[in-house]
Amino acid sequence: MRIPENQTYTRVAIALHWVIALLIALNFVAVWVADGMPKAEKMQIMANHKAFGITILILSVLRILWRIAHRPPPLPASLAPWEAVLARSVHSLFYFLMIGMPLTGWAMVSTGGKPVSVFGLFDMPALPVGADKATGGTFHEVHEIFGTAFLVLIGLHVLGALKHQFLDHDGTLARMIPLLRQRRGL
Ligand code: HEM
Ligand code: HEM
Repeated sequence: MRIPENQTYTRVAIALHWVIALLIALNFVAVWVADGMPKAEKMQIMANHKAFGITILILSVLRILWRIAHRPPPLPASLAPWEAVLARSVHSLFYFLMIGMPLTGWAMVSTGGKPVSVFGLFDMPALPVGADKATGGTFHEVHEIFGTAFLVLIGLHVLGALKHQFLDHDGTLARMIPLLRQRRGL
């Protein structure tokens, strides 16, 4: 059985999925590692966290534009209605957080009035959110809540992918990992 062309994601969508997923994972690891580090090291790690975060924002905007121009394949017909609703909800919330998470981080640091350096290559100017400490605190809180929501969604998403791979054997994971498609002879 071959997966028909319209049943697969484009190479660009697949590349963006994995690069963004990797950078998001690195950004979580960065805050966990930075916690408890001496101040100088912590600032260096957080500078990378901010730069990766802005990179995620840019790539996520590109990914959404690409998705509008190249419709993704329909969900596998084998999904139960509740699974389809869950998958669609998780995907939509992911797109919301892929934009909302970096934006709230950027807004939080913008209350300090300084631009964000992206690996010294270019600067993102401070957003016009004012210099009020309380505003910075609110963005920090939302950033933290979004972070927890992100972790829950990643857990659900990975469990779903593993269920399809090892219990349902329906090739869903192969839609995002072309190497598996070749191995399965699809
Ligand atoms: C998808 C991208 C991002 C993810 C997954 C992410 C995730 C997180 C998480 C989980 C925390 C810990 C929250 C807490 O418990 O206090 C955090 C803190 C922080 N993030 Fe992000 N972040 C992202 C993007 C950004 C961006 C773009 C910026 C700024 C340009 C930023 C700036 C910060 C700062 C300054 C803190 C530390 C706040 C403190 O002092 O405790 N983040 N981030
Ligand atoms: C931070 C991590 C991740 C994020 C933000 C993320 C986000 C997304 C999004 C938004 C989609 C929907 C694509 C679309 O239809 O436009 C998707 C699809 C998919 N993801 Fe992830 N993903 C992550 C990690 C993973 C991991 C670790 C796996 C594998 C274990 C995985 C496997 C898949 C698969 C198989 C699909 C395609 C589902 C289908 O065919 O309908 N993802 N992902």
